[in-house]
Amino acid sequence: MKEKFYITTPIYYWNGIPHVWHFYTSCIANVIYKYNKIYWKDSRFTTGIDENSQKAVIKANEAGMEVMDYLDSMAIEHKKVWDYFNFDYTDFIRTTSERHHKVVREVLQHCFDKWDIYEWEYEGMYCVWCESFKKDEDLVFRNKTTNETFPISDKVKESDNIEKVCPDHLKKPDTIKEKNYFFRLTKYQTWLEEFYQKNPKFVNPDFRYNEVKAFVSRWLEDFSISRETNTFGIKLPFDDNQVTYVWFDALFNYYTSCKYSRAWNKENTDFVDESDFWIKKDNNSLKVLHCIGKDIMRFHAIFWPAMLASYFDLWKEIDWVLHFDEEKDFSYLPDEILTWGYFTVDWQKMSKTIGNVIEPISYSEKYNKELLTLYMLSAFTIWRDWDYDRKDAILTYNAKLANNFWNLLNRAVVLTMKLDLENGLYSDIYENWYSSFYDQSQLNYNNNPFEWDIQWSIKFYNEEYSKYLSNYNLKDSLDLSFKFLDELNNFVTKKEPWTLMKDDSKIEEVKQILYTICEWLRQVSMNLYPFFPEKMSEVFTSLGLVGYAEKLESWEFEALRVEKVIYDIKEKAPILFEKFDLE
Ligand code: MSP
Repeated sequence: MKEKFYITTPIYYWNGIPHVWHFYTSCIANVIYKYNKIYWKDSRFTTGIDENSQKAVIKANEAGMEVMDYLDSMAIEHKKVWDYFNFDYTDFIRTTSERHHKVVREVLQHCFDKWDIYEWEYEGMYCVWCESFKKDEDLVFRNKTTNETFPISDKVKESDNIEKVCPDHLKKPDTIKEKNYFFRLTKYQTWLEEFYQKNPKFVNPDFRYNEVKAFVSRWLEDFSISRETNTFGIKLPFDDNQVTYVWFDALFNYYTSCKYSRAWNKENTDFVDESDFWIKKDNNSLKVLHCIGKDIMRFHAIFWPAMLASYFDLWKEIDWVLHFDEEKDFSYLPDEILTWGYFTVDWQKMSKTIGNVIEPISYSEKYNKELLTLYMLSAFTIWRDWDYDRKDAILTYNAKLANNFWNLLNRAVVLTMKLDLENGLYSDIYENWYSSFYDQSQLNYNNNPFEWDIQWSIKFYNEEYSKYLSNYNLKDSLDLSFKFLDELNNFVTKKEPWTLMKDDSKIEEVKQILYTICEWLRQVSMNLYPFFPEKMSEVFTSLGLVGYAEKLESWEFEALRVEKVIYDIKEKAPILFEKFDLE
């Protein structure tokens, strides 16, 4: 039976077209998804939009549209971006959808029935644009005349001209006093601590996990989950005058997609509950991975497990008394939360005024999708804050893909064509080597005719690559592939097959050299496929491998790696990676 793998992006706020920060998140998730898919896992990948907010009503009114028509148009805009990049999501979740409403209402009712949700009066400042409550320390002062902002301090007082505003939206938050429902997060404090202790890999990287643990051990507060003043959203099943907002609504999208997957009945009305992908994980057959930016880490690492514990009855108050020492039930919880930092562009915050905004589609149209992906994933390790240096991005792409990769491929194709082989390129010297490839005990590199010329073995390369990618170390796995190509380039330069070709008695050796290059290129291209699926498909075609990307997506990867291949190269390859000039 195939293992199950489920990867998610956050659901993005619907307002505005996805920008490069969203692209970064989806791009990482897409690579990890593709990697798991070709590794023969029953994989799912979800993304979507977070729609239920009062802002939708305001914006739709401004545009003179019905709210749902307006949101439909925004959903189309979001999908357009992901489809342009060919991200392979298996489900696109909208929080206004019927299936999601059904899940959230069921969850809310259950948590309410067991007293984990209770009613309370709330008073505080609320920024509708952030969809969050604000404390004084979250705000800044703004001078209404000059529009300047500065930190709140005792020296300055609020006045007609000075107001406290949200630093991101420069708008004064509303003061709200209303009846709200709260989630009893405090009840789950010790349960959460035990969960963290038993699951040392729950948040990746460790230093962010430490922040989460420190936060939980210091202080947790019950949090508000509903709004009385909002009208647009999912109505609480136990109070028609309130809608739920933000985290109950947003986080359960991950469950919605598993519970009511995309299999609809013919009328597109009722849900067909396939098999509930989010199974109880006794047998460890499902791995759930959430990919997020650091700003929403606490919600995912603290609120989310507690909400699931409440909904799936993983822990009850009575357990305090009766079963305090017993093992807690941690099933139904996600396995890992992969978080990353923020980046600047040319060492400055991205902004229209500075003119350093990278809009993913137009940037990719100017250069190409591979340049953006390569630089974002290879320049920095994903968990640190970093900088997108636009010049370095071009240089990196030129060096790695346009020179290193493309030159090698082009040489292999042109020289093989010169041999004019009737039955394609194959070298039987590889026969034994194939059979021993994955059997450690039999592995005999003497079967590889160039063991002294190429320092690395494919086996070593593939194993290291898999180790990096299964730890989400995308940067190191890319670096490794390009180092491997360097090695191969040195080999070709040293062997000079173009010179050997002039001597008829050396043709067999030339075939071995060219076969080695093609074979090594095939291995690298398979490993680069999760990053650049479209281009790697073209590489396979250039190597004379027809329909190879489809095969990769549906066959067992390990078997394909050791497949015996004939390189039936008939045509010169189109330029797959053109070079770009620095501006
Ligand atoms: N809707 C919530 C997520 C709910 S998930 C259950 C949300 N949406 S968002 O559109 O604001 O952000 C989605 C992702 O994009 C987050 O992972 C966030 O880290 C990333 N970014 C959004 N703005 C960002 C920057 N300015 N910089 C870097 N990444 C940020 O949060």
